[in-house]
Amino acid sequence: MATKIPTLDLVRNYSRIKAEILEAMQGVLETQHFILGPDVSLFEKECEQYLGGVSAVACASGTDALILALMSLDIKEGDEVITTPYSFFATASCITRLGAVPVFVDVDPVTFNIDMNKVLDATTPRTKAFLPVHIFGQMAPLEEGLKELASRGIPVVEDAAQAFGAWRSVEGDILRAGAVGRIGCFSFFPTKNLGGYGDGGMVVSPDPQLADRLRKLRVHGAGTTYFHDEVGLNSRLDSLQAAILRVKLRHLEEWNDERRIVAGRYYALFAEKGLLETVQPPVELEGNHHIYHQYVVRVPRRDDLQRFLEEEGVVSRVYYPLSLHLQRCFSFLGYTSGDFPVAEQLSKETLALPIFPELSLEEQRHIVATIGKFFGK
Ligand SMILES: Cc1ncc(COP(=O)(O)O)c(C=O)c1O
Repeated sequence: MATKIPTLDLVRNYSRIKAEILEAMQGVLETQHFILGPDVSLFEKECEQYLGGVSAVACASGTDALILALMSLDIKEGDEVITTPYSFFATASCITRLGAVPVFVDVDPVTFNIDMNKVLDATTPRTKAFLPVHIFGQMAPLEEGLKELASRGIPVVEDAAQAFGAWRSVEGDILRAGAVGRIGCFSFFPTKNLGGYGDGGMVVSPDPQLADRLRKLRVHGAGTTYFHDEVGLNSRLDSLQAAILRVKLRHLEEWNDERRIVAGRYYALFAEKGLLETVQPPVELEGNHHIYHQYVVRVPRRDDLQRFLEEEGVVSRVYYPLSLHLQRCFSFLGYTSGDFPVAEQLSKETLALPIFPELSLEEQRHIVATIGKFFGK
């Protein structure tokens, strides 16, 4: 293979929608309205329709979405927030930013999502929120703890940054990622499955009053311009980003389906090569509609395999090489190595292979053949 296979190729995606994007951007440029404005309101409405039963508030990033969410729940110094150690940094930093304490709970070795069986044991009278992540695009089975958490007065803030469009079917009900808890948070970072052409994020809530507070919090806590009810953030979505995201939202279902097809092909190719004993592909929990934001396998000799793939023209990534409880900036929390064995093991064994809607079968054959070559298959 002459050219490298990237983990994500946004140029290919852009070429599919170029005319629509240029027209949408042109529309914004004609109005010269750049911050919030009509496109942001329309994008919020369209996300509300897509997710169902929530009010949407667009903001400047997924990180801000998480911070705004916790601010709107009055999370403050000394409060505890239960979360996963196996996620992107922002999942935990949003908690410490507000002076609160992340209480980590280990993850499930099969799905890599927080282990719901352990969450309830971790609550204390100081627990003020539960912040699960739908890691790599697969929903955590939140329904297992929802009732009990509610009875303990603990709101759920979903980090759905990697899971726009993922859902879970539970006893005939469809639970949509981000629309299950009290607040759902999304990121529109360009590499996300619904990604803008710059930073962007969104908070959603089934509670319209809470959404109103979030709407104020994103504009310095102002209900009316220059009149501030509380101190908020400056965290607004740009009109250009909203216009781009509106175009991309129209295609999202199709692209998520294409991601699922790519994932299915990987599985078939691993099986064909006799690699399923060596490579553990992602496992989709029963009832889950995984949208494969990432395709993350567990493999022995991960670092050597990654180097070998690179030499053979395949780019891969490690999500995440160091669990959150072991990050230097969180050493004050007092966690040590061995506290969360599953998360720690995953950070040594997981590898994200290329996945994006336009990835071709030929490319996937090359990727799997290269993995096979490495393992002598
Ligand atoms: C799980 C998770 N949470 C939060 C974020 C933060 O989003 P952003 O980069 O838009 O601030 C990201 C993405 O980067 C993420 O993957």
